[in-house]
Amino acid sequence: MSSTENETEVDPMRARYEELAELAGSLAHEIKNPLSVIHMNIDLLSEDLEELDSPGSRRSLERVDIVRGQCERMEGLLRDFLKYTRLRDIDLLPGSLNDQILMVLRAYQAQADADGIDVEKYLDPDLPAILLHSDSLQAALMNLVKNALESMDSGGQLMVRTYTTRKSVALDLIDTGSGVDDNTVLHMFEPFYSTKDGGSGLGLPTARKIIEAHGGRISVQSEVGRGTKFVLEFPVPKRLS
Ligand SMILES: Nc1ncnc2c1ncn2[C@@H]1O[C@H](COP(=O)(O)OP(=O)(O)O)[C@@H](O)[C@H]1O
Ligand SMILES: [Mg+2]
Repeated sequence: MSSTENETEVDPMRARYEELAELAGSLAHEIKNPLSVIHMNIDLLSEDLEELDSPGSRRSLERVDIVRGQCERMEGLLRDFLKYTRLRDIDLLPGSLNDQILMVLRAYQAQADADGIDVEKYLDPDLPAILLHSDSLQAALMNLVKNALESMDSGGQLMVRTYTTRKSVALDLIDTGSGVDDNTVLHMFEPFYSTKDGGSGLGLPTARKIIEAHGGRISVQSEVGRGTKFVLEFPVPKRLS
């Protein structure tokens, strides 16, 4: 088994990195507006072409559809990217990690059923509250559950477990999917790293950023052909424990 620990550390490159991330965020934002103008005009153009309905216009319509498809792909990438860069200073409130993961699993239940994936839940009923931002945390958990389902295209099992450790409230997500090799484990949390066709490679870095914004951390263990285990740990707030 290969594993990485992703802990927050004081890095001299950090300030430079943050500056570049800020810049990239602004760039993404600037690209979004002209892109939506292009998209809107592509839609208008295809309406015009549909009305013409000649062999020439049908060919043009196919090309316009390709442009629209690529436009949508870029919009999706920008959306994910902006979500990734915008996460700062979120307000945390006491809440239940069990409730958060249950809501996410409910959203994916139909997909799990369709893919022949059995979801097993072992949620500690006495789990202490943690400080959380519901929308962000659910987005992080969704990315992780989505990845797990995607790794089990011919069925499998997703085990979800919550428990307390000496210092934290923890969540395990264990899938019996494809697993990944050591090299992928090393790079999977990097923005844009993806082994999937059309994958954004932003799911895991976004999840990690959100978890760290909760004062938590995420680690992974994986084995090709056997599956992957993610462990999330959140601090128990002193006042609430
Ligand atoms: N549960 C998992 N099982 C197998 N591989 C995974 C899992 N989660 C993440 N990965 C790997 O990490 C990569 C990055 O994941 P992510 O950042 O969500 O991007 P994407 O899903 O768009 O590829 C994936 O392409 C895949 O190789
Ligand atoms: Mg993903």
